[in-house]
Amino acid sequence: MDGVIARRATLDEIFQVRWDVLRAGCPVEAARFPGDDAPETILVGAFVGERNVSCATATRAQWEGRPAWQLGGMGVVADWQKRGVGQRVLATLEDLVRRASDVRQIWCNAREEAVAFYEKQGWVLASERFQVEGVGPHFKMTKTL
Ligand SMILES: CC(C)(COP(=O)(O)OP(=O)(O)OC[C@H]1O[C@@H](n2cnc3c(N)ncnc32)[C@H](O)[C@@H]1OP(=O)(O)O)[C@@H](O)C(=O)NCCC(=O)NCCS
Repeated sequence: MDGVIARRATLDEIFQVRWDVLRAGCPVEAARFPGDDAPETILVGAFVGERNVSCATATRAQWEGRPAWQLGGMGVVADWQKRGVGQRVLATLEDLVRRASDVRQIWCNAREEAVAFYEKQGWVLASERFQVEGVGPHFKMTKTL
């Protein structure tokens, strides 16, 4: 993990990885998220030298009718998965979110195969299993920051 830096990033810096890892084979619009351009949105990337190897996004989106943050677009390129990069990016994003406002609730739509990853970072299941068209089975998960 030496040489891997997780930091706040621009959409341009992380967009290709988001598209490749999370919307492979889909048109470019599928990789654009509501809130990408909102001023409060927080984008994080991990970089090995110049290369972007991971991405994550936090946008403001209500949870159960109350102010909250939504995590989306959490991905790590295949050759860097299972090496601690995702954990580092998520911890960095959570830290930035904590410092950005008083809102402590964060949630996400987690792919079924990623649930154990989020649980290791203290997230908990908050829904039944549901399908996202074209992506697969998901669960809602939450964390209090
Ligand atoms: C899911 C993903 C973001 C995890 O990132 P990562 O860099 O591979 O994970 P890390 O190496 O930081 O793993 C942190 C911990 O979670 C565990 N973990 C990671 N992915 C896991 C998985 N799919 N199932 C079970 N445990 C997992 C690791 O073993 C590690 O545990 P440890 O701390 O006991 O060693 C990444 O694998 C990925 O991009 N997958 C494909 C896209 C995807 O599914 N994104 C999530 C969309 S909701």
